[in-house]
Amino acid sequence: MKMKTNIVAHRGYRIVAPENTIPAFQAALAYRPDMLEMDVHRTKDGHLVVIHDEKVDRTTDGTGYVKDLTLAEIKALDAGSYKEPIMQGVRIPTFIEFLNFLRDIGFEQTLLLEIKTDHVDYPGIEQEVLDMVASFQPKYRVIYQSFNLTTLKKIRLLSPNADIAALVFWATPKVYWLKIRGVFDYIHADIRILKQKPTIFWRAKNHMRTWTVDDEADMRRIFKAGLQGIITNQVALATKIRAEI
Ligand code: G3P
Ligand code: CA
Repeated sequence: MKMKTNIVAHRGYRIVAPENTIPAFQAALAYRPDMLEMDVHRTKDGHLVVIHDEKVDRTTDGTGYVKDLTLAEIKALDAGSYKEPIMQGVRIPTFIEFLNFLRDIGFEQTLLLEIKTDHVDYPGIEQEVLDMVASFQPKYRVIYQSFNLTTLKKIRLLSPNADIAALVFWATPKVYWLKIRGVFDYIHADIRILKQKPTIFWRAKNHMRTWTVDDEADMRRIFKAGLQGIITNQVALATKIRAEI
């Protein structure tokens, strides 16, 4: 039977609100996506925060690496104006604030949680993220993802039953071998693979999601084929297209 392709809201609904902020997650949830995707880094004084880049420069009025700033310094930053002047004053959420938000709204979809260890080393962050999630005893499902294979292996070791996805730019034989060995459960692949190596892609469709799918024709093709999921910035468009298929 053909699977209903999941829609994953990438960094919330970042087209309409500042990415990875509470307004972006609220905006996404209005469309009832199957999953919310977000990214976690760690501050200089050890607080987990929800932001995509390793530096604050692109999405705030500040500069520097998250790892070199304290939480107080991070919280002083304006994370809204880069998107729209009217959104001035929106703050970078801590991971705790984000999890509280999910609990308060009774979130029951799936959380796709990316640990951002691909460019910065955050020793011990895997355990901290797992502990924080566990402390909330979530009723929703959590899938952990990373570009960093070491992080994925640590998550598997620390939490053998966790749902884990590998983020990959290229679908190499090693990726499939690691999947078969159970190092991770899903492959989250750059959509360029879909375009360049479609056969490989469809063969793995039951455990494959792809990012970032913002093009209508790509969406139609993927929904028709029944891939596991698309990770998209275009939450409203994806919802509309899927309903038409
Ligand atoms: O979920 C896929 C996607 O988030 C991976 O890329 O750079 O947006 O974190 P990036
Ligand atoms: Ca991400």
